Amino acid sequence: MIFFGLLVRKNYGQLSMLPPNAIYNIDCREGLTQIPQESIDLLLTDPPFGIDFQNVGSQYNRKQKELGHNYIEIPENEYYEFTLSWIKAAYNIMKPTASGFIFSGWNNLSDILNVLTEVGFRLVNHIIWKYQFGVFTKNRFTSSHYHILYITKLSEKDDKTRIFNRLPEYSNSKLPGKLYFEDVWYINRDYQKGGKKTPTRLPLEVTDKCLLIGSKEGDMILEPFCGSGSVILSCIKHKRQYYGFELSKPIFDVAETRINEFKQQLDSKKYKLDIFLKEI
Ligand SMILES: C[S@@+](CC[C@H](N)C(=O)[O-])C[C@H]1O[C@@H](n2cnc3c(N)ncnc32)[C@H](O)[C@@H]1O
Repeated sequence: MIFFGLLVRKNYGQLSMLPPNAIYNIDCREGLTQIPQESIDLLLTDPPFGIDFQNVGSQYNRKQKELGHNYIEIPENEYYEFTLSWIKAAYNIMKPTASGFIFSGWNNLSDILNVLTEVGFRLVNHIIWKYQFGVFTKNRFTSSHYHILYITKLSEKDDKTRIFNRLPEYSNSKLPGKLYFEDVWYINRDYQKGGKKTPTRLPLEVTDKCLLIGSKEGDMILEPFCGSGSVILSCIKHKRQYYGFELSKPIFDVAETRINEFKQQLDSKKYKLDIFLKEI
């Protein structure tokens, strides 16, 4: 086993490669070119949805006035090209056995699905995450779900090697000894109390579930759009390695503070951060 610090010196001496277990305040499209090819086990990400913020209050629980911290969105007419560029770059650095979970709203879902096929991913499941609150609407249904696309690089033929941890705590079966896992998840969103709020924070319950089912301890996780850092917190908690990117400096700062406070909480509980890196 090799300690993190030693490994960084050994394998990441080249300036062009980024050390793992860190988040970076750069455009992920640039960052993804600085990660070794075929090194990622799991992509777990919540990209911008490409929604029109003028109208956002009527569709999402993301109100314009709450969108502090310079959240960076993608204009709808650029969404396909943007999605193609980051998904292609992510594909190149994922292992041939890798899987992924990509969150999406419904507006530009078809762009993501088309890009995934174009780039060569296979869709394993289309999960619906139902959350508990939406906004009040007059003449349309209130949106209270997100899509989570569960994907893999593996072909049908090699699919047996895909990691899918059948954890009893996530089973929907009521029969003893029998496990099955439904593709509709009922998970509440967090109400953020006090402090600096970020509008799109994912609850750890949903990031934990993706991470624990789709990866094992020590695996390398990629979150190109880490926002306030929920995926990264799950990685730290469950002893996964990670790369995170966030382009907005104010949001990056929120993530960094949150991650540092989280690590301190774990340390104070005498939690040992025993992430040992594998050669990648
Ligand atoms: C949906 S939010 C992620 C929220 C996150 N899941 C959380 O728990 O807070 C998407 C994030 O991607 C960031 N972003 C947009 N374009 C980016 C880019 N090219 N590279 C890196 N981050 C980007 C946005 O600023 C935003 O914070």
